[in-house]
Amino acid sequence: MSEPNQKIILTADRPTGRLHLGHYVGSLKRRVELQNSGEFDQINIMIADDQALTDNADNPGKIRDNIINVVLDYLSVGIDPTKSNICVQSTLPALHALTFYYMNLVTTARLARNPTVKAEIQLRGFEDEGLPVGFFAYPVSQTADITAFDATVVPVGEDQLPMIEQAREIVERFNRIYGETLVLPTALIPENDAQRRLPGVDGKAKMSKSLGNCIYLSDSAKTIKNQINRKMFTDPQHLRIEDPGHLEGNVVFTYLDAFCTDEHFAEFLPEYKNLDELKDHYTRGGLGDGTCKKFLYNVLNSTLEPIRQEREKWANDIDSVYDILKAGNEKAREITGNTLARVQKSMRIDYFADRSIVKEWETLLKNAEK
Ligand code: TRP
Repeated sequence: MSEPNQKIILTADRPTGRLHLGHYVGSLKRRVELQNSGEFDQINIMIADDQALTDNADNPGKIRDNIINVVLDYLSVGIDPTKSNICVQSTLPALHALTFYYMNLVTTARLARNPTVKAEIQLRGFEDEGLPVGFFAYPVSQTADITAFDATVVPVGEDQLPMIEQAREIVERFNRIYGETLVLPTALIPENDAQRRLPGVDGKAKMSKSLGNCIYLSDSAKTIKNQINRKMFTDPQHLRIEDPGHLEGNVVFTYLDAFCTDEHFAEFLPEYKNLDELKDHYTRGGLGDGTCKKFLYNVLNSTLEPIRQEREKWANDIDSVYDILKAGNEKAREITGNTLARVQKSMRIDYFADRSIVKEWETLLKNAEK
């Protein structure tokens, strides 16, 4: 096992598209803070291409193409490859083996109860079309991801809590049957409510490529402006500026809750000290939606501007990105390979770890003769 009391992070994303603001406030921003806190002994960030294939089996090209998008998004938000180990799931065969063992420790009934999987099955139409076994079992593979790195902390969005819960159950079951072997992980989700579940720009529950309601980290200033002006609604009852406005379900304010800081007010809207003052004026009446939208645009654009620039820089040096990934994979292969060996030892299936089994078998056969 890794040294006792080590603090290890593992987190991952499916490479099915560029990462967006939901990923950013829900997880990426926190990862960078954790990375720079110096509190962790090891940080691993994985591109979960195998998991992405569980519902994209007929479109492997999409996954292949988006690996570079996700790595660029990581590097551009400040994931530092000298501090965080970036790797690709499919290049780590230990994860496949662990998944296979863990599948014996969970029932189909338990998997069917996982609320996130349930919602995703519905969303993808798998109820009618037929449900791929691999997709159904992906929480098990995710448990392999987490435990292979001995992760103690898994920073994720709120929708991933059921995965961590399942991982913990599998870990406990494994340790009970085979002896203390796996580390029990803990989820870390954002404290801020708006950050935990950022809706799409159209107010729908989640940002999703197919709904066209995303703002991507790599979007241009113009695209951001269009998404805010054309798709974001405010308070439908706020017809005249003098009318009192409502905050509930008001997407502009949900986004301000998630992104704006007092510094943004000082820079872009110095008439107000902070969001409370702005909200106050809005609900009192006399504050126009246009002012709020323009401020939100400034907040988002100033957040994304440095990310965009950094992305541009890395995009012009893909050779270096390749080297970063390759080095990350090598480290990850070693870490996950060690865990697999430990697991196989606990399960007593480490037949060829050394020759000691020869003696064991000989004794067994001799005793049987008697
Ligand atoms: N299921 C996660 C998502 O869709 C991605 C993921 C794969 C993950 N393996 C993981 C997250 C391990 C945390 C830990 O976002």
